[in-house]
Amino acid sequence: MTCTSQLMEKMVGSYVLWLALGSCLLTLASTEQQGDRNFINIHSYDPCQNYTRLDEPSRSTEYTGQGQLCDRDMNGWYRFVGDGGSRLPETCVPMSRCQTDAPMWLNGTHPTIEEGIVSRTACAHWSGNCCLWKTEVQVKACPGEFHVYWLQGTPKCNLRYCTDPYTAKDNCENTCRPEEECSFLNGTWDCYCRQDLNSSDVHSLQPQLDCGAEEIKVSLDKCQLGGLGFGDNVITYLRDRNCSSITQREERNWISVTSPTHAGACGNILERNGTHAIYKNTLSVANEFIIRDTILNINFQCAYPLDMKVSLQTALQPIVSSLNISVDGDGEFTVRMALFQDQNYTSPYEGAVAVLAVESMLYVGAILERGDTSRFNLLLRNCYATPTEDKTDPVKYFIIRNR
Ligand SMILES: *[C@@H]1O[C@H](CO)[C@@H](O)[C@H](O)[C@H]1NC(C)=O
Ligand SMILES: *[C@@H]1O[C@H](CO)[C@@H](O)[C@H](O)[C@H]1NC(C)=O
Ligand SMILES: *[C@@H]1O[C@H](CO)[C@@H](O)[C@H](O)[C@H]1NC(C)=O
Ligand SMILES: *[C@@H]1O[C@H](CO)[C@@H](O)[C@H](O)[C@H]1NC(C)=O
Ligand SMILES: *[C@@H]1O[C@H](CO)[C@@H](O)[C@H](O)[C@H]1NC(C)=O
Ligand SMILES: *[C@@H]1O[C@H](CO)[C@@H](O)[C@H](O)[C@H]1NC(C)=O
Ligand SMILES: *[C@@H]1O[C@H](CO)[C@@H](O)[C@H](O)[C@H]1NC(C)=O
Ligand SMILES: *[C@@H]1O[C@H](CO)[C@@H](O)[C@H](O)[C@H]1NC(C)=O
Repeated sequence: MTCTSQLMEKMVGSYVLWLALGSCLLTLASTEQQGDRNFINIHSYDPCQNYTRLDEPSRSTEYTGQGQLCDRDMNGWYRFVGDGGSRLPETCVPMSRCQTDAPMWLNGTHPTIEEGIVSRTACAHWSGNCCLWKTEVQVKACPGEFHVYWLQGTPKCNLRYCTDPYTAKDNCENTCRPEEECSFLNGTWDCYCRQDLNSSDVHSLQPQLDCGAEEIKVSLDKCQLGGLGFGDNVITYLRDRNCSSITQREERNWISVTSPTHAGACGNILERNGTHAIYKNTLSVANEFIIRDTILNINFQCAYPLDMKVSLQTALQPIVSSLNISVDGDGEFTVRMALFQDQNYTSPYEGAVAVLAVESMLYVGAILERGDTSRFNLLLRNCYATPTEDKTDPVKYFIIRNR
C-alpha cells in the first residue's frame, strides 16, 4: 500500500493532524526521609559565614525619596546586598538621603582580607555637621569580595546606615537566582550558592521536571539542597542507579538526571490509561559516600497524550515507513506513516507484517515531523493499495484519490 502526500500551507481553522506533546505532573507527595540528616554544623562564629542579609535599595546614597527610617534596633553582623550597594560609603552623605534624616557613613577605609576584623567609626550627618553623632562599627572583608559589618543600634533617630550604589555587585554575566549570590571565587565572578541558606523543610525543594518527547529530565537546585544540609558530595539517581547525576554533566548549581522517554529505560515504569501514556520514576538523593542510605526519594511522572507519535514511540516494533519531502525554501520535512488497529491511533501494528481479516478496518496514520510543523499541515491526496509488493504495480486500488 502506498500513499502520496503533499504539504499544504496552513489555513486559518484548518485541521491539525496530530496533537502536541507534553503535559507534566510532579508529585512530592511520597517524599520520604530516612535516617539522620547531617546538618553541617559550624561551631565557629566567623561573621563571613553567619550574618544577616540586608537587601534594601533605599539605603542607597542616591535615594532621595521621603523617609524617616531609623536603625535603632540593629545588632549583629550584616551584609548589604542588592541594587542599593554592598558597602557603606566612605565619604560624608548629604542629609535626607537613604530614606532617613541623618545618613550614616564610614569615616575610614574598608579592610582587606588579611587585616581581619577592624574597628571603624560611623558618622551621622546632621545640621551641617558630617559627624554630629558617631558610633563604633566593625568591618571584615570576606572571600567572595564582600564585606560584613558589625552594627549596633544608632545613637539617635532618625539615623540610618547608607550604602554606596557604585558598589552594587553586578559583575556576573548571568543574573543570579535568589538562592545564589554573585561572588568572586577561583579568579572569576560567578553565581555561587548562598552559604546562609537554611531550611529543614524538604518541600522547599522544588524539583524541576522537563517532559520531553525524547527525554525526561528532572533537576534539583543544588543551593536548596545545600540549605537542607546536603554538601557538595550529593548525588541523585533514578530507579536504575546507572542513570545518575555522576555520569551526567550538570549545569550551574543544578543537579539533574535525564532518562530517555522509553518504558524500561532508567527504570521508567509505563502506565497507560484511556488518554495518556504515563512514565513514572523515582529520583533518589544521597551522599556520594553513603549511597546505600538513601536520604530522600522523590516520585515523579510525565504524562503524554496518547497521540500517534507517542503510541509509535512506546510500541516495540511499529510498522513505519518514512519519507523526506522538500519544500522550496522551507527545508526538508519528514513524514512518517504507520498502521494502527484502532480509530484513536493508540495501538499501532507491531512486527514485520500486519495480517488483516477481510473487511477489517485499517487506520493509516501520517505524522509530520521535522520541519516547520506550525505552518504546514499534511493532506493525503492519493492513497492506494497494490496486490503485490511493487508499489508501481499497474493494478492499484485507490483509497483516496486526487483530494
Ligand atoms: C550566628 O550568630 C548568632 C549571633 O549573631 C549566634 O547566636 C549563632 O549561634 C551563630 N551561628 C553560627 C552557626 O555560628
Ligand atoms: C574622620 O576621622 C578622622 C580621623 O579619626 C578625623 O580626623 C576626621 O575629622 C573625621 N572626619 C569627620 C568628618 O569627622
Ligand atoms: C576552584 O577551582 C578548582 C580547580 O579548578 C576546583 O577544584 C574547585 O572546585 C573550584 N572551586 C569552586 C568554589 O568553584
Ligand atoms: C538553621 O535553622 C535551625 C532551625 O530553624 C536553627 O536551629 C539553626 O541554628 C540554623 N542554623 C544556622 C547556621 O543558621
Ligand atoms: C548498570 O551498569 C552495569 C555496568 O555497566 C551493568 O553491569 C548493570 O547491569 C547495569 N544495571 C542495570 C539495571 O542496567
Ligand atoms: C489519564 O492520566 C492523565 C494524567 O494522570 C489524566 O490527566 C487523565 O485524566 C487520565 N485519563 C483517564 C481517562 O483516566
Ligand atoms: C530523511 O532525512 C533525515 C535527516 O536528513 C535522514 O536521517 C533520514 O535518513 C532521511 N530519511 C529518508 C527516508 O530518506
Ligand atoms: C477512543 O477514544 C474515545 C474517547 O476519546 C473512547 O470513548 C473510545 O473508547 C476510544 N476507543 C478505543 C478503541 O480506544
